[in-house]
Amino acid sequence: MRQVYISGEMVPEDEAKISIFDTAVTLGDTVTESTRTFKHIPFKLDRHIQRLYKSLKVTRIDAGCGPEEMEQITMNVLEANLPEYGEDEDLWIVHNISRGVSMPGPDPTVRSGGATVMIHTLPMDLTGWARFYEEGCHAVTSMSRIIPSQSLDARIKNRSRMAYTLAEMEVKLVDPQAQGVILDADGNVAENKGGNIFAVSDGVVRTPPAQNSLAGVSRETVLELAETVGVPTQQTDLQPYDLYTADEVFFTSTPYCIMPATKFNGLSVGDGKVGRITKQILTAWSDLVGMDIVKQATKQLEHSN
Ligand SMILES: Cc1ncc(COP(=O)(O)O)c(C=O)c1O
Repeated sequence: MRQVYISGEMVPEDEAKISIFDTAVTLGDTVTESTRTFKHIPFKLDRHIQRLYKSLKVTRIDAGCGPEEMEQITMNVLEANLPEYGEDEDLWIVHNISRGVSMPGPDPTVRSGGATVMIHTLPMDLTGWARFYEEGCHAVTSMSRIIPSQSLDARIKNRSRMAYTLAEMEVKLVDPQAQGVILDADGNVAENKGGNIFAVSDGVVRTPPAQNSLAGVSRETVLELAETVGVPTQQTDLQPYDLYTADEVFFTSTPYCIMPATKFNGLSVGDGKVGRITKQILTAWSDLVGMDIVKQATKQLEHSN
């Protein structure tokens, strides 16, 4: 049985409980992080914890401990759970920290205790993305626009996910397999419900700046790896036009790392095949973590069929 950490205690996953009056439930007033492992080693856990503490600071949530202790607790949760995972199986490590219990009333900021700190692990199930490494996915713009950073800064990684979910439902009306591209109110490309977006044109890897999208750890990794393999990068506004006319398009996110897109709103991206630079960066990522990222996912898919 997997073990879950809740505010100082480790409990079996099926006994883990929080109050129905927790602001995680009543307000979605929760900051979050999702880290993955490669060969059971957390990838850039320090960067995830740093982003978590930025989110906590801006949202004025006191986790009750500092980043070093949080990292140690996280490693303890990982170690307690590793016996539950096979040698070839990787895992998510998920942090959810809500403001705590708050009785509905005139002031949602009044709480009866401290923050609720929750850390759990889950198997890294890649079967939903695996075929896109070879085929590429169909990227589709949603009708709904991203919540503007003037309302909720996109850099705060939070659990208020209704807007993202509705946007993803819209793109799935166009194509049940589609992956959403959410625009901002000005029509610039922002992000996906759980990932960042890149376009490659004339040998340059471009992604929107982090004003209208989460500053993804995978996004940062792609920018680093591209430089390492000698591909120039640029953080700049992109419009749908840039994705239509790009040679390559891909998404980035913690579980799948890079998900190529070979179609955008029904039109082929470039020659309609997964691009050379996309593959090059993905290979560099596999080299960085000492395992074949694509193989792991495709193996999972084969075993699930
Ligand atoms: C809205 C959103 N954008 C982008 C990302 C990608 O971030 P990362 O690469 O750190 O997983 C995520 C990750 O969950 C996300 O939720």
